[in-house]
Amino acid sequence: MSQLFGSKCKEGRLRMNAKQMAGYKAAEYVKDGMLVGIGTGSTAHFLIERLGQRVNEEGLNIKCVSTSIESTEFAESLNIPLLDTNDAPELDICIDGVDEVDPAFNGIKGGGGALFREKVVAMSAKYNIWICDDSKLVEKIGAFGLPVEVAPFGYKHAVRRLEEAGFVPKLRMKGEEIYTTNNHNYILDTNYDNTKFGTDYQAMERFLKGTLGILETGFFLSTTDLIISAGSDGITEIKNPNK
Ligand code: A5P
Repeated sequence: MSQLFGSKCKEGRLRMNAKQMAGYKAAEYVKDGMLVGIGTGSTAHFLIERLGQRVNEEGLNIKCVSTSIESTEFAESLNIPLLDTNDAPELDICIDGVDEVDPAFNGIKGGGGALFREKVVAMSAKYNIWICDDSKLVEKIGAFGLPVEVAPFGYKHAVRRLEEAGFVPKLRMKGEEIYTTNNHNYILDTNYDNTKFGTDYQAMERFLKGTLGILETGFFLSTTDLIISAGSDGITEIKNPNK
């Protein structure tokens, strides 16, 4: 299975088609009566689109919990019933995109800045699926940096502590403005190539989560049950061997 991870890279329209294939395939896992976590990003967009079709055309009876304002607005526009996460403490399934995932199912999410809500919703689900085009299957995660969500108050103290530990955090910007998450926090896109942790992501996660001001990280370490990846060879479903 590991040969699936690595060198693939699809561009432009092909990649968008792959995202649609993965999103639509994942929608087949959603059954009548389910409570469903819906992710964020360009791949989750197609999942939501297909769920909207199933709700409106097949009368699929589901309730969804969204991971971002963007996904909430799209789901609402399709008349998909939504619940607040606090009103749905246990979901049947959560389906979301991913930025990078390695053969051990270590993933990084948060490219779209929704990592905190995505983690809360994913952790409340009995079964998790990631949907992606096959460029997301990599041998080693971290090429784009790890998104780390920090409280704006005193975030520079967290930056200093990360730098002392060898991390290189970069405050995410949106044009001239500091980027803010749906929770009104900041994101540090963080390179971890030169820390003492090497590729011990669990230890790195413990250190980061123990640092004052850091609210969440984009590490999703073996949290998903199934990856649905699509590319020019069609759709591949990869089960997490550790689950
Ligand atoms: C949002 O914060 C992210 O975790 C997305 O799920 C991730 O970036 C994947 O996005 P795409 O499906 O747009 O690649």
